[in-house]
Amino acid sequence: MIERIVIVGAGQAAAQAVDVLRRRRFEGSIALVGDEPFLPYQRPPLSKKYFSGTLARDRLPIRHQSFYDEHRVDVRLGRRAVSIDRAARQVALDDGVALPYDALILATGSTPRRLQGPGTTLQGLHYLRTIEDTDRLREAARPGARAVVVGGGYIGLEVAATCRELGVEVTVLEMADRVMNRVVCETVSRYYEAEHRRHGVELVLGARMEAFVGDAAGRVAAVRCADGREYRADFAVIGIGVLAQDALARAAGLHCDNGIAVDEHCRTSDPAIWAIGDCTSHPSLRYGYRVRLESVDNAFEQAGTAALDILGTPVPHDKVPWFWSDQYHHKLLIVGLSQGHDEVVLRGDPATHGFSCAYLRDGELIAIDTVNSAKDQMAARKLVAARVRPDRARLADPAVPLKECVPA
Ligand code: APR
Repeated sequence: MIERIVIVGAGQAAAQAVDVLRRRRFEGSIALVGDEPFLPYQRPPLSKKYFSGTLARDRLPIRHQSFYDEHRVDVRLGRRAVSIDRAARQVALDDGVALPYDALILATGSTPRRLQGPGTTLQGLHYLRTIEDTDRLREAARPGARAVVVGGGYIGLEVAATCRELGVEVTVLEMADRVMNRVVCETVSRYYEAEHRRHGVELVLGARMEAFVGDAAGRVAAVRCADGREYRADFAVIGIGVLAQDALARAAGLHCDNGIAVDEHCRTSDPAIWAIGDCTSHPSLRYGYRVRLESVDNAFEQAGTAALDILGTPVPHDKVPWFWSDQYHHKLLIVGLSQGHDEVVLRGDPATHGFSCAYLRDGELIAIDTVNSAKDQMAARKLVAARVRPDRARLADPAVPLKECVPA
């Protein structure tokens, strides 16, 4: 009988787990432990509207304190879980408290990958993951300041776009030969590169960063690349990917494989412990391989999956993942995983600022990127989930609605 649930980590996944557990009438105790001083909040605005100042801090929390009070959640903020005693079924916190559990949910998230090398201890280097990170960054992002952004992925490009809106001069140094290379095809990369350049970003592809160069006061003043070029910087932002926070699970001897390894019910290798969100890797039923997904959608879905399993009503996690990125006024939505595609079909013309790229593997639709294309977004998830084999000629014709590209 499960009477006591402890959730470690207080992000999007944790908030959703609380919500589903109580909506499904779990009457036992729930403790929520988070090392940040904030209730679970939305992270996507941290590189966008919260950074630009157009979204106030009080709009960030997913639920306010009253929700946790009403739902009888023992919220412990500013506290770290330091170890799990699996035999005794207890979690030890850094203030000496031990929380007993019948079911433990690990929702520890991910953390920015740190850059190593010369100058990385200088003042003025920023990573972006928390409210406090963005508050520090906003202080630095004064109109007319110069920023060097290392990494042309989601974080780097969203920060670059917001910096331009704030009147900051921006150079982006991307190691690969195109931006967002991890997630989108070349057509989408080239579109975003052109848009950033049009907004005044200096974009350097194939960049080999060598060192941060400091001034006499120990603040970053420039970034030097291997070709000898130096880019002036009043501050730098580093967005070179994230790592799953699985140290607590590892120390407890749970099986980890590119994150805490869970099954399609979010069960770990210990039957009393579940894990959800960015910190996990799971077998994708749709794609047939193990994935670690960094997204709000995955946090949300896995939270529901774990909660239902704990309550004895399991439903396997089998949704098509999706991701989004807002840069300037452009909306990129990625539906599905394009890994392993052997063909990309372009729908529409990037010059019109609204187009999609459909990814096929052996003729089957496995993923779609849509740029400012709300029409295609609606149908995309359904079609990718249904493993359809679209007619290529119709697919390539943006006048044919996406859902009508499938032979009857
Ligand atoms: N120098 C320059 N670029 C680098 C370096 C380096 N030393 N190392 C990595 N990169 C580039 C990669 O080639 C890639 O384009 O950094 C980019 C990192 O992009 P992402 O993997 O998308 O990671 P990031 O932008 O940090 O976003 C991490 O945060 O927005 C959330 O969940 C979202 O998955 C996203 C996560």
